[in-house]
Amino acid sequence: MAKARIAVVGAGLMGHGIAQVFALSGYEAAIYDSSAATLATAKDRITANLRDLGDDVSAVERVRICSELADAVRDADYVVEAVLEDLALKQQLFQEIETAARPDAIFASNTSVIPITAIMRDLRNRARALGTHWWNPPYLVPLVEVIGTEWTSPAAIDWTIKLHADVGKTPVHVKRDVPGFVGNRLQHALWRECIALVQNGICDAETVDTVIKASFGRRLAVLGPLENADLVGTDLTLAIHRTVLPDIDRTPGPLPYLEQLVQQGNLGMKSGEGFRKWSPDQQQALRQRVLGHLKQARTNKA
Ligand SMILES: NC(=O)c1ccc[n+]([C@@H]2O[C@H](COP(=O)([O-])OP(=O)(O)OC[C@H]3O[C@@H](n4cnc5c(N)ncnc54)[C@H](O)[C@@H]3O)[C@@H](O)[C@H]2O)c1
Repeated sequence: MAKARIAVVGAGLMGHGIAQVFALSGYEAAIYDSSAATLATAKDRITANLRDLGDDVSAVERVRICSELADAVRDADYVVEAVLEDLALKQQLFQEIETAARPDAIFASNTSVIPITAIMRDLRNRARALGTHWWNPPYLVPLVEVIGTEWTSPAAIDWTIKLHADVGKTPVHVKRDVPGFVGNRLQHALWRECIALVQNGICDAETVDTVIKASFGRRLAVLGPLENADLVGTDLTLAIHRTVLPDIDRTPGPLPYLEQLVQQGNLGMKSGEGFRKWSPDQQQALRQRVLGHLKQARTNKA
């Protein structure tokens, strides 16, 4: 079977990385961005990533730079959008994509949190539209959540899951279009309790992170929470939940501690302080540590 032709709309942090993943697996990937400057550097950024990872640099030759949206999507079997996180922009773009693309092309949005239903609701053919939530950096984090709306056809979901498995990703099917899909719901449920522990004076922010990294964080990459529950027994899990859950934070919105940090201008690394203080050297060291860990995980799997 011929490989699907891919179009990536948006060549920023996520878009260029997504194009890189498809190109490295032998797919032709057209890429478009409304910013000429961003588009102009897309191939250089992909080449630099491929070189850094020790991947085949010639893969970049399968990436086609397009200065017009219609040129990128016209022949595509699959169009994935990775533009700014703005509902009106995404809605408008999919109108233009639907006008220019083939009637049988599959459409995906890489939105982080906007409901896929809201983005796709005005399309003429909503059965072919879905969400694909990648994680940053797309060429190092395996998961892609494939999110269906009430209109998405099972065939479109099935095809998209197979496509992402073929390029070495770990696709999963999210059956309902809920805010945060699966990954970000879980992540932010944990973050809320982390902030509550600091807010309530149980421990400081550094301790929260140390506790996670030096304990269950060590196991998480190979032992999911529900595997863990089965490992220790659902009866023990029930007993723990009866004692602990009544005390866990259930605030329905952002916690006051977080609101206050933002109001005070403590925005994290970009302002030098958030939950903790960050010198430029500490920021650089943290970024290198994360990247090194993700690269090592990929090597271990290969
Ligand atoms: N950064 C992450 O960690 C991450 C993770 C998962 C999902 N996402 C989602 O992916 C999407 C892209 O995020 P990003 O981090 O790559 O952002 P980014 O700012 O790096 O890139 C967005 C790109 O969209 C382009 N753009 C804006 N309007 C456009 C238009 N009309 N047509 C074509 N291109 C246009 C911009 O020029 C820019 O290059 C967002 O929806 C974001 O929420 C981001």
